[in-house]
Amino acid sequence: MIDELKKEIEKVKKGFLQEIDQILSKEDLKKLRDKYTSRKNGILTEFMHNLKKASKELRPIAGQTINELKLIIEDKFKETEKTLISKVYGRVDYSLPEFDFSVGYSHILSNILTKIEDIFLNSGYEIAYGFEVESEYNNFTALNIPEHHPARDEHDTFFIKDFENTILRTHTSPVQIRYMNEHKPPIKIISPGKVFRKDEPDATHTPVFTQVEGLLIDKDINFSHLKGTLESFIKSFFGENINVRFRPGYFPFTEPSAEVDISCFLCFGKDQDCKICKGTGWLEILGSGMVHPKVLLNCNINPEEYSGFAFGMGVERIALLKYGIPDIRMFYENDIRFLSQFG
Ligand code: DAH
Repeated sequence: MIDELKKEIEKVKKGFLQEIDQILSKEDLKKLRDKYTSRKNGILTEFMHNLKKASKELRPIAGQTINELKLIIEDKFKETEKTLISKVYGRVDYSLPEFDFSVGYSHILSNILTKIEDIFLNSGYEIAYGFEVESEYNNFTALNIPEHHPARDEHDTFFIKDFENTILRTHTSPVQIRYMNEHKPPIKIISPGKVFRKDEPDATHTPVFTQVEGLLIDKDINFSHLKGTLESFIKSFFGENINVRFRPGYFPFTEPSAEVDISCFLCFGKDQDCKICKGTGWLEILGSGMVHPKVLLNCNINPEEYSGFAFGMGVERIALLKYGIPDIRMFYENDIRFLSQFG
């Protein structure tokens, strides 16, 4: 009788040691533990249960044998818990080629846009979006660019066939009109987006490019606010050591208007043959001005009560300058060797 039990226990032990040797996951280890030690119908529990049926004389020796098995099983579980991880990794074949885990990254233009947006969001601006398909009214007329105004010809416009007065927006400035028509001042927005012009692609032109528009309208806003805002933006974006220059300019929707230049960060005006500033020491980066009273009136805002400034910049141009990229088309050719440099 006791010999039979011992034989059986030996069989169970052998089976158990084989099974636990195959275990490669915590889940399987738990299943095996249940199989042997579960209070309900674990193999060990059943042995203990049957022990009650054994005769008085046999019981101690049978109990001891079962206990020995129990200790072996418990020890082995403890050991396996500790060694499971190294066991699993031990099975990795390091000679296999690696998986390609490369994750994508955002495009250089998106990176620049995010940086511009962050700077303005931190100063309390909101982001507003317009539409790429626009009315001629929003894109030109409401911005004080009447029909036959030469500025319309400068913006070589894509017209939408069969839709009168409907175009692809040539700049982000119509977002000013949309926003002012729908919101009362104070207004403090920037608006990034694609714009379209019928330009032949070359090193500095593409028919689609990206702009960021800015608009601030409130009581008592003057040119100093515009100057301070743009100076602080430029220094955050390009660096504290960059100088900013405002030059008189002309845009129909602002009066006065200013073109804004930054000091050349490549040669600081010291290289007559500088690749990017051509020896002038300055780089033009955006257009700006005080919003024209006519534009405010077109949006039912009283210019006697409110004033504001606006600005617009080309994102590709900023990226070209910042990184000394020679050709705007490189942004769109999707050559990973080029794009991955800015990941
Ligand atoms: N919309 C102008 C352009 O595309 C850029 C611009 C200039 C926007 C002056 C403005 C501004 O808001 O005030 O050339």
